[in-house]
Amino acid sequence: MKRTHNCNQLRKPDAGCKVSLIGWIDSVRDHGGILFLDLRDREGKTQVVFDPGNEELAALGSRLKPESVLEISGECRERTTDTVNDDLPTGAVEVAAEEAIVHNMSRTPPFPLDDSADRVNEDLRLSYRYLDLRRPSGIAALKLRHRASQATREFLDQNEFLEIETPMLFKSTPEGAREFLVPSRLNPGQFYALPQSPQQYKQMLMVAGVERYYQLARCFRDEDLRADRQPEFTQIDIEMSFIDREDMYALIEGLLAKIWKETLDEEIQTPFLRMPFDEAMNRFGSDKPDMRFGLEIQDFTEVFRESEFKVFAGAAQGGGVVKAFNAKGLADVTQGEMKHLEETAKSLGAKGLAFIKSENGEWKSPILKFLSEEEQSNLREKLQVEDGDVIFFAAGEWEASANILGRIRLESATLLEKRGKLKRSPTDWKFLWVIDFPLMTQGEEDGRYVASHHPFTSPVPEDVSLLDSEPKKVRGQHYDIVLNGVELGGGSIRIHQPDLQKKVFEDVLKIPPDVVQSRFGYMLEAFQYGAPPHGGIALGLDRLVAILAQRESIREVIAFPKTQKGQDLMTQSPGPVTDRQLRDIHIRSVLPEAEA
Ligand code: AMO
Ligand code: AMP
Repeated sequence: MKRTHNCNQLRKPDAGCKVSLIGWIDSVRDHGGILFLDLRDREGKTQVVFDPGNEELAALGSRLKPESVLEISGECRERTTDTVNDDLPTGAVEVAAEEAIVHNMSRTPPFPLDDSADRVNEDLRLSYRYLDLRRPSGIAALKLRHRASQATREFLDQNEFLEIETPMLFKSTPEGAREFLVPSRLNPGQFYALPQSPQQYKQMLMVAGVERYYQLARCFRDEDLRADRQPEFTQIDIEMSFIDREDMYALIEGLLAKIWKETLDEEIQTPFLRMPFDEAMNRFGSDKPDMRFGLEIQDFTEVFRESEFKVFAGAAQGGGVVKAFNAKGLADVTQGEMKHLEETAKSLGAKGLAFIKSENGEWKSPILKFLSEEEQSNLREKLQVEDGDVIFFAAGEWEASANILGRIRLESATLLEKRGKLKRSPTDWKFLWVIDFPLMTQGEEDGRYVASHHPFTSPVPEDVSLLDSEPKKVRGQHYDIVLNGVELGGGSIRIHQPDLQKKVFEDVLKIPPDVVQSRFGYMLEAFQYGAPPHGGIALGLDRLVAILAQRESIREVIAFPKTQKGQDLMTQSPGPVTDRQLRDIHIRSVLPEAEA
């Protein structure tokens, strides 16, 4: 026997042919001696029939269990009209088995391998990830990911990019997240770090004259995990010489258009909208705004500067802001929902969440008694408040207040969606470039500056002169690509002048010169040997594929993802090692005996 077709191939015209199929038994149905089974492989399913006339087959058939691996050969025949299955592409035919071999009899799987498994505990599914992936949705996600990767490779190859691998054993870098360290056996007391991204290597490739680099790069970050974060993930990592921001926007728009075309057969509209960071924060309270719905935030600082309501007046007079938005139609918000919204605001540092409900022709709010007629009519007009609406407020420091209302805006959208009053279609593609980020942000506790993106990002040329006097006002040549509230990727035009890079490290970021030398000395030196102007970007491949596949979590589009605790439940990693192994790498455990 040799496989002649996959399980999604046979059609009516194949009737009469001798065929051979191999795959997993999806289901077995015994119709009084005649055995019908669906054979499944990665491409689909075909119905196979075991006639009771063939005693050998009948005996085998009675022992078959779902998920066993079965090879059969026999004749493909047309089904009678009343037994045609229109739900199956192969539903017009079936194969009458003449020979069959069981290659592996399966135990009963710990959960059913169909869509109902979506409701099965995720830890159980991850412990048996090889079964979970066998489900149609598992295979579909891997196929989609493959298509997206292939489209990326084709597109970048056509645009003269070289695919180049960079080391996994790197050293500590300053990109923000905590790193995974790897002790060096040959260099006692020294450590590699797994790369958070290939940032420094790709810049060195530009100095090396590569001009156009890309890599589907594995990145490692020891962060707290969420639905859209894994400790190891993949970036479409890109770097180019002799370009400006416009070149980068055009390249990525072309790449995403190609990916959408190849995976979903959809044309997306380019060029994408662009929005300065300040505007995104002011209107949507987020640097990755979901633009599929309105509920835009507005500023009321001036309206409340002299208000009777001290919370608002105090914020305005203290250099802060008063912001509000109209959660249109949410006046029927329940007490429980309101409490949850308030707690959300508090978790982001708010003291409370002031609101006004417009219900049955009147405004209701604990703060209404403090608001003048004029203030109320101002709100009503600007926010176009109608009966059934709720206004939410945040007062305080600009960025914090924007962030708080940004979150309440998203939560309100979820509540409105539940009520059928708002729709966020997962396939309403609202791409957006967020640009003009501040180069630096000031740390809250110590007042020290940190790079908003990373310290290699070039300031906007007009702003370089402000680096000494007003670093906060300097804009970076940094851009983020955002889709429906998800940050797909980010990048920047880099610094390629050694003096400017040194200045940013030492004078702005206040990294001691000896630390700069030990960490980045090689880079500052490299920039003295003909460094080309260059820039790049990295797109999160996992996030991209999750969006394409309309999955909630990037775990669903990663073959072997980790849990919230960073574990691989299938292989049970991480795991303990022997004392001998530790000794070899010059490490001693400080955990008490019982914990080690
Ligand atoms: P950045 O840190 O913004 O930039 O990362 C780029 C993109 O990578 C994705 N991403 C993640 N995906 C899954 N799990 C994670 N833990 C995770 N962290 C980040 C996001 C993000 O937008 N070197 C720079 C890029 C550059 O300047 O060229 C960098 O890594 O989609
Ligand atoms: P208070 O007078 O402090 O009790 O606050 C009155 C209302 O305003 C309460 O509903 C608080 O939740 C809310 N509130 C307090 N501080 C803020 C703030 N900074 N921004 C928005 N609402 C606030």
